[in-house]
Amino acid sequence: MHSVALAAPDDFDGWRAAARALVIAGIAPERVSWSSPADPPALLAGPPPPEAPEDAPAPRVPRGFPDLAALAIRHRDPQRFALLHRLLHRLQAERGLLEVASDPDVARAEAMARAVRRDAHKMHAFVRFREMRVAEGADGARFVAWFEPGHHILRAEAGFFRRRFAALRWSILTPCGSAHWEGAEGGEVRFGPGARRADAPAEDAAEDLWRTYFAAIFNPARLKTGAMLAEMPRRYWRNLPEARDIPRLIAEAPARVAEMVERGATPPALRRQRTAHLVSLPGGRSDGLHPAAASRVGTPAMPHAETPTDSDVPAALAALKREIETRNDLPGWSGQATQLVFGEGPPEALLMFVGEQPGDEEDLAGRPFVGPAGRLFNRAMEEAGVARDEAYVTNAVKHFKFTPTGKRRLHQTPDAGDIAYYRPFLEREIGLVAPRLLVTLGATALRAVTGRAMPVTKVRGNVLRAPDGRLFYPTVHPSYLLRIPDSAMKAREYDRFVEDLAKAAATARSLPAAA
Ligand code: URA
Repeated sequence: MHSVALAAPDDFDGWRAAARALVIAGIAPERVSWSSPADPPALLAGPPPPEAPEDAPAPRVPRGFPDLAALAIRHRDPQRFALLHRLLHRLQAERGLLEVASDPDVARAEAMARAVRRDAHKMHAFVRFREMRVAEGADGARFVAWFEPGHHILRAEAGFFRRRFAALRWSILTPCGSAHWEGAEGGEVRFGPGARRADAPAEDAAEDLWRTYFAAIFNPARLKTGAMLAEMPRRYWRNLPEARDIPRLIAEAPARVAEMVERGATPPALRRQRTAHLVSLPGGRSDGLHPAAASRVGTPAMPHAETPTDSDVPAALAALKREIETRNDLPGWSGQATQLVFGEGPPEALLMFVGEQPGDEEDLAGRPFVGPAGRLFNRAMEEAGVARDEAYVTNAVKHFKFTPTGKRRLHQTPDAGDIAYYRPFLEREIGLVAPRLLVTLGATALRAVTGRAMPVTKVRGNVLRAPDGRLFYPTVHPSYLLRIPDSAMKAREYDRFVEDLAKAAATARSLPAAA
């Protein structure tokens, strides 16, 4: 029996090096015992695996395997190292193994990867930083969070918090490890040993702000207790200041709904309000930044209002589609496109995605985002925990603009005139759906929603207010991800995109209904 002791429970590089050597040496997975500091060895230690000869050919794996293994290795199951080794071993003879979803090893690894992704998204949503009192004379405040992840995700997810709270000094303490960031001083995130709950501040001066905020955004008319528990499982409640109010808010919901009906709908003030500039609302308070800290970095208070329901919306959307179809002043390419591609999705969706324009496959199918970019978008949505059919998906420009070249129709980016032509229609479509949050995918959508050309990279990942008062969240277009040639960068950018979608969804859920 050979033994491999990994340096950390999420030591992917260590696992990969050892697993490669084992596969090259032809050592069967059942003859290896794996351990890490969090996974004690089951047996007495045996010899380490032999070093792989320099010139031995590396084991071949399909493209999806490294990503799958890198995720699954963060799972808390002590069998994960052996399972991944067995998969690597089997892949040498069974090339298409990963496509066999019913294979028990594949299914187990996929389930582990999904659980790790879910845990990461919960961490993004439920880490709550509290201000740590610092000794007099010490410089700058530190924000400290206590979090109990279900899996070994701290090191992998620290980058999310570094990007999100780059300017603050923060620490995240967990039972198995801690991460520390020095804010504007930059450098690297430092990792340290695990901590105890008592090491993090239990409360801070502005604790009640969280609770007031949560109570303000809690919409009793939209309460679905099952869905809420699925989103915010009870095991996270201990660390969420707002959670202690949930039982009371649920109990009071029926009476509050009756009172809302009695009072009638609030007039749609937010929609009419026009502001000259975009206003950044970092995180929309679903981001774990304490409201007090948020106000220090310039976050305006969240508006809230109750939306009247409108049973005519599907009919009005259909009428808008017909109206565009019957126009005869469409920009020059309209004669070429097969058909108008209008938005689709539930008219009461909380989240509305705006893309650029239909592509070749969308033009033929008459539906948005069904081609290669759409498939990537669907996958990212699933990973972000958003069902595509829960969201309304549309495009800034509703016809496929292309240059015919031989058998192919080459996509042409819409110009300012195309965007301006469709903008009033898009505004009406948005007005009818009245989502809580719009997500703009890429530069064309950003321009269509704001009326201004601006680089997506400057504003990506923030909750912003458009000139018409609407809240929106800019991110990249999925076809940008398809075009990245370097696979490591592609994987990183894809993860950022999934993070963006998860954050936008969490923000939309936590926002009050748009008025
Ligand atoms: N790209 C878009 O922006 N929209 C689609 O519908 C398809 C690809």
